[in-house]
Amino acid sequence: MEEDHENRESSKTNKGLLQTDELYQYILETSVYPREAEPLKEIRDATANHPRRLMATAPDAGLLLSLLLKLVDAKNTIEIGVFTGYSLLLTALSIPADGKSDKEDSFDYVYVDADKDNYGNYHERLMKLVRVGGIIIYDNTLWGGTVALPKSIVPEHRTYHREHIIEFNKLLSNDPRIQISQIPLGDGVTICRRIY
Ligand SMILES: C[S@@+](CC[C@H](N)C(=O)[O-])C[C@H]1O[C@@H](n2cnc3c(N)ncnc32)[C@H](O)[C@@H]1O
Repeated sequence: MEEDHENRESSKTNKGLLQTDELYQYILETSVYPREAEPLKEIRDATANHPRRLMATAPDAGLLLSLLLKLVDAKNTIEIGVFTGYSLLLTALSIPADGKSDKEDSFDYVYVDADKDNYGNYHERLMKLVRVGGIIIYDNTLWGGTVALPKSIVPEHRTYHREHIIEFNKLLSNDPRIQISQIPLGDGVTICRRIY
């Protein structure tokens, strides 16, 4: 099982938790690449040989983010964790040019893809910044699938943040202020909609 897990981690294409690389490739070629904006393809190509390329938001997750931005009619957004800018550019391409605010209760959309040991702190702060009905999206909430693996077989480099993500997933699940959906896409994406 550990070997299989490492194979997945080393794969160049499979960012996700799907059964096979072929299935992931099918999704990319059928519904993702044909719809990916040209500037995003350029960023993806420019990041392809970066030693930490797997940190970039996966293009299939990108399409979901873009859809969510449109669904909440996002104008004011926050991104935490930029790297080479795939998700940030995607956000810029999905929102209108006008409308910027830094007041509390005014943000429509937040995407968090940074230091996992701070997700709990970000969440409390962001719940004050996002308006009721706005959404906060957390990336990596399945942490390569390790959240459900016995601790004894989790690769060393995954152990520290795994603990934080497990605690964070419980925190979101118990937070009555939000509606949530955890999606096994990319590395696990949890969408939270502020209810009150
Ligand atoms: C997983 S990458 C983000 C990938 C990005 N979403 C993309 O599509 O390319 C995480 C990024 O968060 C940054 N980061 C880590 N801790 C941070 C912090 N405390 N504040 C801001 N950024 C942070 C890292 O330097 C890294 O660039």
